[in-house]
Amino acid sequence: MVRLAARMGALGTETAFEVLARAKALEAQGKSIINLGIGQPDFATPPHIVEAGRKALADGHHGYTPANGILPLREAVAMDLHRRHGVTVSPENVLVVPGGKVTMFFAILMFGEAGAEIMYPNPGFPIYESVIRFSGATPVAMPLHEAKGFSFSADEVLAQVTARTRLIIINSPANPTGGVVPRAEMDRLVAGLERFPNVAVMSDEIYSCMVYDGAEHVSLLSYPSIRDRLILLDGWSKTYAMTGWRLGYSVWPEKLIADATRLAINCHSCVNASAQFAGLAALTGPQDAVHSMVAAFAERRQMIVEALNGLPGFRCVSPGGAFYAFPNISGTGYDAKGLQTRLLDDAGVATIAGTSFGAHGEGYLRFSYASSLPQLREAVERIRQFLGNAPPGERRL
Ligand SMILES: Cc1ncc(COP(=O)(O)O)c(C=O)c1O
Repeated sequence: MVRLAARMGALGTETAFEVLARAKALEAQGKSIINLGIGQPDFATPPHIVEAGRKALADGHHGYTPANGILPLREAVAMDLHRRHGVTVSPENVLVVPGGKVTMFFAILMFGEAGAEIMYPNPGFPIYESVIRFSGATPVAMPLHEAKGFSFSADEVLAQVTARTRLIIINSPANPTGGVVPRAEMDRLVAGLERFPNVAVMSDEIYSCMVYDGAEHVSLLSYPSIRDRLILLDGWSKTYAMTGWRLGYSVWPEKLIADATRLAINCHSCVNASAQFAGLAALTGPQDAVHSMVAAFAERRQMIVEALNGLPGFRCVSPGGAFYAFPNISGTGYDAKGLQTRLLDDAGVATIAGTSFGAHGEGYLRFSYASSLPQLREAVERIRQFLGNAPPGERRL
């Protein structure tokens, strides 16, 4: 009998992949499923980016690259951050990694160990809590509040900092809530963090290009007082519809970049060379495809939020960013997991229970609106019919 390391028992998962597998199995049985479970753009990678990847392979870019990424790509990342956030970043502090997840894995492993505490958003991207537990550290939930548009309260976050706190994870715009943290709340958090110079911050800004209705993305890179302990997570997956290319980047402070690069060398050596050339074309080429994708998401967001608010027992705040709606479903009489299961099995609509994103997600469902308008309308109609037909006695599972 093989014997695994004890920490393997602490590793969680991302339920979206399990729901995807169940949805595929139901489809294989001939059922019609509308999948609003998966968090990826339903658009193809823009053709000029695909062409740059193809050309890199044809031109012979088949070997290892520097572990931290090719210099032109790191320079392009620095220029893009300057263009979007008005900040100066040295290409020497940029680490190109295979997807957004790798940055969180490295950052959490770098700070997490038994006795340490790491604060993370809840409901939040499930991998944060999973990897914190895997590292041996204690996860400390930072509650997000529906009444605050799913922002945290800076005072509440600061009140939870202890002598054991090593790292605080921030995610705005957020998965699964679509919440965007307002500038005043960020200002308050950063001002408070100045009292705790030993606490590092990882800011997951993977949805930074997707904000709506005048909501403002505030990058934590723009606060000089925490730059020496800030790790930025961003990448190409969502902005350029490149989830399958596995390409992301991080910005590390001076004192951490060598450690982060050593983790990369130990883990994956470098990122696929052709993907790096594709990423370069994405940052330096035309941005029209990004603008039209965001415009499509904005239209769908408006439609789905209105439609969800019209469902009995549903209440949905208007999300400021990303491509998720996170309605409160407690008025339906179902708990989150129960409604997720019934909607998939009986109504043919795949969604994700809020509890898949942490204990504070009870009473909510996540809808990814990275789907066409007709599909979204049909999904809401199916749910309306399901709720209308479900006998009240069967409601509590
Ligand atoms: C908040 C958040 N961070 C990071 C990621 C990971 O992105 P990637 O697919 O580039 O690893 C995701 C993906 O869903 C996400 O929602």
